[in-house]
Amino acid sequence: MKRPQDTPRPSDDPILVRDAEPRDADAVEALVRASNPRRNRLGLPSETVDESLFKVLRVAETSDGLVVGAETYEQLDRDQCWLSGLAVLPGYRKYGIAGLLLQDAVTLARRDRMLTLRYVTETTNDAVHQLSLDHGLRPRGTWLDFRRELDEAACSLGRQKAALDAAAIVRLQPSDRLRVLSLLNASGRTLYVHSGAWRTIDDAVLAKAIEGGAAFFSRSGVGGWGLAIIGARRTDAIEATVYGPDPACAKSLLEHLRGLACESIEGVALTIHAPQDAPIASLLATAVRRREWHAVTEHPLRVWELVLAE
Ligand SMILES: CC(C)(COP(=O)(O)OP(=O)(O)OC[C@H]1O[C@@H](n2cnc3c(N)ncnc32)[C@H](O)[C@@H]1OP(=O)(O)O)[C@@H](O)C(=O)NCCC(=O)NCCS
Repeated sequence: MKRPQDTPRPSDDPILVRDAEPRDADAVEALVRASNPRRNRLGLPSETVDESLFKVLRVAETSDGLVVGAETYEQLDRDQCWLSGLAVLPGYRKYGIAGLLLQDAVTLARRDRMLTLRYVTETTNDAVHQLSLDHGLRPRGTWLDFRRELDEAACSLGRQKAALDAAAIVRLQPSDRLRVLSLLNASGRTLYVHSGAWRTIDDAVLAKAIEGGAAFFSRSGVGGWGLAIIGARRTDAIEATVYGPDPACAKSLLEHLRGLACESIEGVALTIHAPQDAPIASLLATAVRRREWHAVTEHPLRVWELVLAE
């Protein structure tokens, strides 16, 4: 085992990585408490919008049966997998245990013939940064997450408010897919967020979003554009990813999403994910200062990606 420090690990015996069992519940709970749950739980509560094909919690156990680390491996679809909840007990950190858990996930991903493996962390998490570089992952952009809770009264007020209409919102047609994808590719943005997990936007995803009325395009008079893709929509929560270089389009999309959220009668949480350098991110940062929105994480997020295809 890798020994980055001079001090010996509490026990030098090998660490076993295995599926969690019901008897591990207390140990896993202790791990969650010892890590920062804000960093590990992003987006909507995944247990209610979970559409993954397969999900397993893997734990790292010492030879004397102590669970010292954990990580969740999830197949988002047939090609992409997502890791979350990586944590190691404080007394066992810096002995390569997170590396073993990550390596285990890569083995599972290869076994399952996944094409990409991803996770997200705050940009300030030096341990995950180093871990990611050590295992050949590459950063896929820096993102910001914002949330606004609209209660019953705010929704009712929002329904009465006239839309601002700074730039036109276009309802996308199936034939618009390739044009929109080429804009996204040109801007280097081909990920969107669904239930807190970053996934690839490809032709099939966009077609499905258009068909389900979950993709909104905004066009300004001077050729600017913006795109919002709703990843998850429930009566009490909406999650959307917003792209595009034009501030007027960003404003229209935000207004449009707020309008959609206000259709709720009982109140709703609207979560927006955006690349850090997109105009919508600065609009929302200003709204955070006015206390109208709040930033979900303290620091920007970095998506890490491992491409597994040969
Ligand atoms: C992140 C975490 C899981 C890392 O676990 P770990 O077992 O200590 O990680 P490893 O020992 O495998 O170390 C991985 C690399 O990061 C480095 N590293 C570990 N902790 C570090 C720190 N605090 N600062 C800088 N580098 C660090 C290690 O030296 C190693 O790099 P090297 O191989 O070049 O020496 C652990 O710190 C933790 O549980 N943190 C709280 C929860 C959390 O932040 N989870 C991640 C959410 S995405």
